[in-house]
Amino acid sequence: MHQPENQPAGIEIALWPYSKHEGDWNRWMPSLSPDERERAATYRFERDRTAFIAGRYLLRRLLSLQTGTSPGKLVLSPDKHGKLRLEGDDRLQFSLANADGLVAVAVASGCDHLGIDCERVDTEIEAAAVDSYCSADERRWLAELPAARERARAAIALWTLKESHLKALGVGLREDPRNVAFSWNDGIPVMVDGGDRDRRWHHRLVESGSQHVVALAACSQSGFPGISTRLFQDDSMPSE
Ligand SMILES: CC(C)(COP(=O)(O)OP(=O)(O)OC[C@H]1O[C@@H](n2cnc3c(N)ncnc32)[C@H](O)[C@@H]1OP(=O)(O)O)[C@@H](O)C(=O)NCCC(=O)NCCS
Repeated sequence: MHQPENQPAGIEIALWPYSKHEGDWNRWMPSLSPDERERAATYRFERDRTAFIAGRYLLRRLLSLQTGTSPGKLVLSPDKHGKLRLEGDDRLQFSLANADGLVAVAVASGCDHLGIDCERVDTEIEAAAVDSYCSADERRWLAELPAARERARAAIALWTLKESHLKALGVGLREDPRNVAFSWNDGIPVMVDGGDRDRRWHHRLVESGSQHVVALAACSQSGFPGISTRLFQDDSMPSE
């Protein structure tokens, strides 16, 4: 289904706790391009292969809905830093993230940049690692949190927010995540740069159940884009 050109920015997020059965991912394979199928075959571990196939399958399904082109016919190519572009359509922004057991895809039209990231909530981050990606103010804020569990979760939230932003920019972790710093305003993450905030950027933690933390970064000139989040249901064929 094509979206009219003048539609305001809207972001669709699909979350998918995909099946890990071989029969299922074999069924998703025909929706991938030949080079994606080749890449899938190079993964040493089945867990990584399944995650890659599920990510590209979900991305293609969502882009297909937006463009009216069948999933397998969409041409996706990475730029020099690895960010995917959809050939023949500069209007759509999209981003894909994978964390053990969950794929998250965000698609939008009307945004300048879009990035999504997800991590498992129980990811252990050592203190030294926190120092390597948090700014001095963020480290102080984390240290003031009373409970270890709350601190650990906040550290993961900061990581996913930063990574989603760097993915939106397309630079990934080539950029030092300490340069992308966040504070909180009424529970909403706000990116701060020298104390000021850039009002074109919007960051959110996305409700995604108890096992993962999902963060979204969007740059939009026309204010805060509406976000709709749904759990993707694979209707390609019932699994036995
Ligand atoms: C982008 C990056 C942060 C992703 O980190 P990750 O935790 O491994 O993976 P995620 O699950 O969060 O995201 C994976 C997706 O990010 C996307 N991606 C890759 N590079 C990207 C970039 N520079 N910008 C935005 N998105 C990117 C891809 O769609 C990828 O999906 P794929 O595996 O199906 O190709 C990391 O790969 C990175 O920093 N890359 C650029 C730096 C670099 O030198 N990479 C080496 C290879 S060129």
